[in-house]
Amino acid sequence: MNVLVTGGTGTLGREVVIQLRQAGHRARILSRNPRGHVDTVQGDLATGAGLQKAVGGMDAIIHAASATTDVLRGNAVDVKGTRRLLNVAREAGVKHIVFVSIVGIDRVNYTYYKTKLAAEAIVREGKVSWSILRATQFHSFMEFTLGLFSKLPGLATVPLEWQFQPVDARDVARRLVEVVSQEPGGRLPDFGGPEVRDFKSIAESWLKAHRLNKRLVNLWLPFKFSRQVADGLLLCPDQKSGTITFEQYLDLKYGAK
Ligand SMILES: NC(=O)c1ccc[n+]([C@@H]2O[C@H](COP(=O)([O-])OP(=O)(O)OC[C@H]3O[C@@H](n4cnc5c(N)ncnc54)[C@H](OP(=O)(O)O)[C@@H]3O)[C@@H](O)[C@H]2O)c1
Repeated sequence: MNVLVTGGTGTLGREVVIQLRQAGHRARILSRNPRGHVDTVQGDLATGAGLQKAVGGMDAIIHAASATTDVLRGNAVDVKGTRRLLNVAREAGVKHIVFVSIVGIDRVNYTYYKTKLAAEAIVREGKVSWSILRATQFHSFMEFTLGLFSKLPGLATVPLEWQFQPVDARDVARRLVEVVSQEPGGRLPDFGGPEVRDFKSIAESWLKAHRLNKRLVNLWLPFKFSRQVADGLLLCPDQKSGTITFEQYLDLKYGAK
């Protein structure tokens, strides 16, 4: 099967490309800057450049490109870019688009999630037969966020009550390869990580893995979304679909401590 992977250079997309190729499929990458990658088309969802070339000859698309700051750019990438992609994909006779989304975007009041919902709505219009897979936050996103909360010397100021169900991008990629090989399935069951944990315990594991001797203190944020995340609205506890825990991810990346 010939599959275009948008976002094929990103955290999730890279794993998708590896696993598609291991499974014997062709994986073509759409990227603004494809240097260092093979089987690529240079293009930009925000302008439409390269999209026609990218979809040509493809049976399916795994659409994993996204810009978290899209709203600042008039939703050019996630929303308008998804529409552009679907228009050219339909013309080219692409049979299936698999859209990657996020668990709980309809329950948590956060600008980026509104963008994702708007992009989902465009996929659901059905220009191309579709599947939508919502996943929980990736392990690498836990690290990214904790890095931001740990800038002060000696301190990690973290919203300790936030709840996450972090998932490994390799697990999500495995599911996406399965999904793209099947008939379009519409909105699929959510894909969550193997454990629900509060940010306190996630931060403790992360500080330990990095041998950081920082004092962990609670950061209270006066935003609705902060309460919603603490209330577990980003979770799908009935769908513990991933296999790799945050501890295992840290061990694999930094070695057992
Ligand atoms: N991160 C999480 O915790 C998480 C959790 C659940 C779901 N998701 C979803 O999973 C998907 C992948 O997330 P990620 O964290 O792996 O993303 P990422 O690492 O931030 O990568 C973003 C990708 O989007 C591409 N991209 C950005 N702007 C583009 C544009 N204008 N034209 C074409 N490509 C563009 C980038 O490609 P180039 O820079 O090469 O152009 C890059 O490959 C997203 O849909 C995200 O919403 C993420």
